[in-house]
Amino acid sequence: MQLNPEILVGDNSLSAEMIDNAYEIRTDNIISKTQPAVSENSSILDSLLNDYKNQLAGKTALHAGYPYNLSFSYEKLSPFFEFAINNLGDPFVASNYKIDSRYFEQEALAFFAELYQMQEWWGYITTCGTEGNLYGLLLGRETYPDGILYASNDSHYSIAKAARFFKIPHVVVNSQPNGEMDYVDFLSRLDSSRPAIINLNVGTTLKGAVDDLEQILEMLERKRIKNFYIHCDGALGGMLLPYLAPGKINFNGPIHSLAISGHKFIGCPFPCGIVLTHKKLVDKLATNIEYIGSKDTTLGGSRNGHAPLFLWYAIQQRKHLFQLEAETCASKATDLRERLERVGISCLLNSYSSTVVFPKPSNTVVEKWQLSTQGDLAHVVVMQNHSDELLERFVADYLESHYDNTPDSF
Ligand SMILES: Cc1ncc(COP(=O)(O)O)c(C=O)c1O
Repeated sequence: MQLNPEILVGDNSLSAEMIDNAYEIRTDNIISKTQPAVSENSSILDSLLNDYKNQLAGKTALHAGYPYNLSFSYEKLSPFFEFAINNLGDPFVASNYKIDSRYFEQEALAFFAELYQMQEWWGYITTCGTEGNLYGLLLGRETYPDGILYASNDSHYSIAKAARFFKIPHVVVNSQPNGEMDYVDFLSRLDSSRPAIINLNVGTTLKGAVDDLEQILEMLERKRIKNFYIHCDGALGGMLLPYLAPGKINFNGPIHSLAISGHKFIGCPFPCGIVLTHKKLVDKLATNIEYIGSKDTTLGGSRNGHAPLFLWYAIQQRKHLFQLEAETCASKATDLRERLERVGISCLLNSYSSTVVFPKPSNTVVEKWQLSTQGDLAHVVVMQNHSDELLERFVADYLESHYDNTPDSF
């Protein structure tokens, strides 16, 4: 079965000319152009916005470095920008402010809960994956106030941020060369006298590696640690794993919270995400707040009410396609790896991942394709909006660029 490019590209389809011009588009200082009297002259405003739109289209056409699905179509939802939708407070407890999207929030969350086989769950739609990680780890600390946070060296920086914000003692565990946790190092660092709060990566940022729940549980068992809390960071991979390896990680196992970004695999014009956990863990935390008429269970007070509507809408449109989308991203990533390897470039592509890691190319290529880099490595995160032709163009650019083909990091 082939994906219909119409579905994937939607209204974001770009002319060849736009793609060609993407790198040349001017990045003048918009503010200085508007001065002194933009509001008095709507044609200046129009042309300025039009310029900006073209810039965005160009940059969207040549993007390969971050895990964002840039193809989506939400035109049907534009009428809702006329409303100040705010899910102030708990998603399940109506607030006195009635211009909300709680129904859509609950429905969207129910989709993720079913995907991860949760029974008695609670969750909310966050501003991003980072907020989900902060929330999950805060809940870990509330569950085990004397716990120690263990997270691999390849974990996203939001994990260390959570440790800092919430004053959780933080032990950094070595990673293996492929980015997965080093379980032997984990065992050696585990303190058997204190509860363990563990960040389990469902797809690391740079290498897309998935930590092995079974091995983590085995190490906890060996140290006879019965009190533990496992938070799963599935920013992108949380939407790949259930389709590429059904049942590998879900709430039938001893995990306690899960964070996924909404703007990554699903795709959304603004950042958003979800966090899910067991209902009984949150019940302990909830405080009734008279001012909002709801419960204070979320990190933020005011919460973006459009995000639930957008996620819900994407889920309704595409949930029957998610499996195919995940498989297609993974197979395009395999093709990319093979193309690069055929011309002698060493690459890494982990299981259940669409992240192809390779030696960092020249700065020109890094800039042009908006690659994220770390030391001597860079990656392409293959997403739904990447056509074969586009990836071919990337390989051509890469080959013209200067790179050191002997990275020492994988
Ligand atoms: C593994 C991982 N966790 C968390 C995040 C943070 O997600 P967000 O950018 O949605 O805050 C990222 C972002 O790339 C990530 O790769």
